[in-house]
Amino acid sequence: MINHTMLDDGTSVFYYVVLFVIYSFLGWVIEVIYRSITQRKFVNAGFLYGPFIPLYGIGAAFTIILQYFFHTWHLVPRFIIFGLTLTAIEYSIGFLFEKIFKLTLWDYSEYKFNLQGKVCLLFSTLWTILAFIFITFIHPLVSSNVFTLNVAYIKIAAVIFLIYYSIDSILSLIFLTEFQKKIAYLYTEYFNLSNLEIERILNSFQRLRNAFPDLNRYINENINNKIKNSISAFLKSIQDKIILEMNGRKPFEHEYYEIIQDIDGHEEFMKLKDYFHHNSSIYEHVQKVAYLSYRICKFLKLDYRSAARGAILHDFFLYDWRNHDVPDLSREKFHGIEHPAIALANAKKHFSLNEIEEDIIKKHMWPLTLFVPKYKESFIVSFADKYLSSKEFIGEFKKRRSHRHAQKAHRQHNKSSTRSGKNETGQHRLR
Ligand SMILES: [Fe+2]
Ligand SMILES: [Fe+2]
Repeated sequence: MINHTMLDDGTSVFYYVVLFVIYSFLGWVIEVIYRSITQRKFVNAGFLYGPFIPLYGIGAAFTIILQYFFHTWHLVPRFIIFGLTLTAIEYSIGFLFEKIFKLTLWDYSEYKFNLQGKVCLLFSTLWTILAFIFITFIHPLVSSNVFTLNVAYIKIAAVIFLIYYSIDSILSLIFLTEFQKKIAYLYTEYFNLSNLEIERILNSFQRLRNAFPDLNRYINENINNKIKNSISAFLKSIQDKIILEMNGRKPFEHEYYEIIQDIDGHEEFMKLKDYFHHNSSIYEHVQKVAYLSYRICKFLKLDYRSAARGAILHDFFLYDWRNHDVPDLSREKFHGIEHPAIALANAKKHFSLNEIEEDIIKKHMWPLTLFVPKYKESFIVSFADKYLSSKEFIGEFKKRRSHRHAQKAHRQHNKSSTRSGKNETGQHRLR
């Protein structure tokens, strides 16, 4: 049991500081084991640089205090009190992080019986069980050892730990503020940053993102939402212009063919003529998408060269997507998601691409694929592809439907003429 007499002693506070540090360290060990197993690599958990997670120290402190006041109570009400207190602590810390740093460090929203994703029944129960294991086995053992140590050593250790803890906390808070600023910067400047810059920003916070995997989802969701909103506003504003643009083609054709001439005519690229796509061949489809993208980007004063080149290579895959197996895509894989990477690999193999062209090919299936386009040109191509694909599909559907109707009519015609032939024969027989 806890040495309660130490609570009244002026030096006891130093012992408790040391205990706090030890329990923060044990908490870190638990988290590291849990995170490293779930992520299958070593993960330095928690937001401090050092091997401590203060939240566990705080949880331990509250558990000790609760035990001090309620140790005479029956197990069940004690379990409930412990559970409610620990849940309240976890909720408050999560809430404060969201309020102060606008960051979601953990998220239970996919668990049953959760409260705003900050706490959930399963983890609250686990914390409470952990608290009981702690107060019954760990704390008596650790505290009885710590309390036998010489007070002078404890004082020195406590002061050193406190200084270290303060420095680590301040540095970590600065780091967290920096992180928050960079993320805000990322959200607003996403379109103006190169892929490399975005990667550099995200990589500079790799440790924090490993330590709190939910943070990644939070960042991605935010980026996705921001982009979706600005794109739909952007597309709405130009949709009419796009349709208008589609009608006046001829004057630019010469320039368009000049831009894509090294691709159009290339032996490997011409193989696209052999593969059916939507209603014709992949070759015809990519030409249409490239031309429309080129026109729109020229109209909007964007990089129409990259748009045309990226678009003409966007579906550079050499297999029939309705019945694929070899050579590039095995049957069990889903063409819709896989083909941008295949097209990009083929394109890189035969042509040199700039960053925009790569982005166009890799991300033209967004939002089916998770990679969000980075350039306006990529969004235009993605839009042109969807617009033309649906037109092609509808065209093909109508063609097949009228073909079916024609066949049906033909069959009916045949039937009725056979019937009338029969009648004639019948009549002959009658006669
Ligand atoms: Fe595609
Ligand atoms: Fe396409």
